[in-house]
Amino acid sequence: MEKIIIKGGNPLYGTIEVSGMKNSSLPILFATILVKGTCVIENLPPIDDVTAAIAILKGMGAEVRNIDDTTVEICTDNVGCGTAPYDMARHMRGSYYIAGAELGRFGRTSVPLPGGCDFGQRPIDLHIKGFEALGARVDLDSGYIRAEADGTLKGTSIYMDVVSVGATINVILAAVLAEGVTVIDNAAKEPHVVDLANFLNACGADIAGAGTDIIRIKGVSSLNGVTYAVLPDMIEAGTYMIAAAATGGRLTVSNVIPKHLESVTAKLCEMGVHVEENDSSVEVWADAPLRPVNVKTQPYPGFPTDMNPQMCVIMCLAEGNGQLREGVWDNRFRYIKELIRMGADITVEPKVAYVHGGKPLKGTSVRAVDLRAGAAMVIAGLVAEGVTEISDIYHIERGYANLVEKLCAVGADIKKTVVSDGACVTAV
Ligand code: EPZ
Repeated sequence: MEKIIIKGGNPLYGTIEVSGMKNSSLPILFATILVKGTCVIENLPPIDDVTAAIAILKGMGAEVRNIDDTTVEICTDNVGCGTAPYDMARHMRGSYYIAGAELGRFGRTSVPLPGGCDFGQRPIDLHIKGFEALGARVDLDSGYIRAEADGTLKGTSIYMDVVSVGATINVILAAVLAEGVTVIDNAAKEPHVVDLANFLNACGADIAGAGTDIIRIKGVSSLNGVTYAVLPDMIEAGTYMIAAAATGGRLTVSNVIPKHLESVTAKLCEMGVHVEENDSSVEVWADAPLRPVNVKTQPYPGFPTDMNPQMCVIMCLAEGNGQLREGVWDNRFRYIKELIRMGADITVEPKVAYVHGGKPLKGTSVRAVDLRAGAAMVIAGLVAEGVTEISDIYHIERGYANLVEKLCAVGADIKKTVVSDGACVTAV
């Protein structure tokens, strides 16, 4: 079993370069199913979810060539419908984008129901509503999403009862080759929705309004291969910004789009952290005691739900009490019991955590309960007294490229070990 071992107390100094965005990479990779000819996708993060997505595409018959560790060449001309390997697809959330892409290309789909982090209920009713509005019959049976349209999908108007990144993306994928115009009302505005629309428009699609709550997709007859670079990962960037402020160091986080980080920057500044924005980087440092703050996670451009756990850690370091309200998921506080094991003083209700800051965190053994919670445990380990051992780090490696190496390079005392039958074998 692999663990991350951290000896806390080192302030972080230097520069960390952010990799491509996981939540952009997955829809764009699966969107290549809609494209004739060859795409070259650049700035992909070398993370397990991207490796898995590429393996699924290969399993479906795509020809994929790794040009380097962040660039792949993909041709899906020979991809078969309904051939996503069950055991791979059911473990990741983003695999449900195959449904929208297959429906858009073949007029039918059969894809395993998705996996992903456990935040309680993760319904897909809006994905189904979108597919049915476009003219498909949808069945969920024996762990699969199956859908089929009589002939070509027909453009229509779809109102999203809840702002949903996944459902917005899946309807775009299904509608981009449909007959006529599709309008998505109450659409998600996340940068990764815009990134997908930009990729598809580069291939010849006709999508307008991405980044607003009304997206219009005019169906086109075909899409052609392009070379496209994925956006930088705003959540990875925000994670390292908080690590810099929490450890009392000074970090330049490079390869970012500062506008995507506005809500994170605003909250850190409320705490007394300094954030200097440059064209494609931010410099972060704290030179005074952290002030308490209240946070409510919301769909973009609100404070990202995927920064909930990381923000909770720095709120534990503030001198005073703060409230962290989760406005997107039913149960995103599973990680708090791990922070309490480190000495944090937090009381939790289903949708809000009351953080009583100022208590020192002490290193101990903790678990990564999901991807972003795992990143939060790393930040907690960086600031805790003593040594923190984090297990179940496979969650972290789904979404953070070279995290140990990146933190080592800026002064963290952090390593990854492989533990077999109780003995610590190697530090990698
Ligand atoms: C995406 O998940 C991200 N995952 C999540 O990031 C992120 O937390 C989430 O968007 C919100 O930003 C990927 O992009 C792979 P949603 P998704 O559909 O698309 C409700 C990470 O850490 N809803 O925007 O599954 C749902 O219950 C991961 O990178 C419905 O009610 O999220 C939730 O309350 C974790 N019906 C809200 O919408 C539906 O059909 C937002 O979910 C779909 C969603």
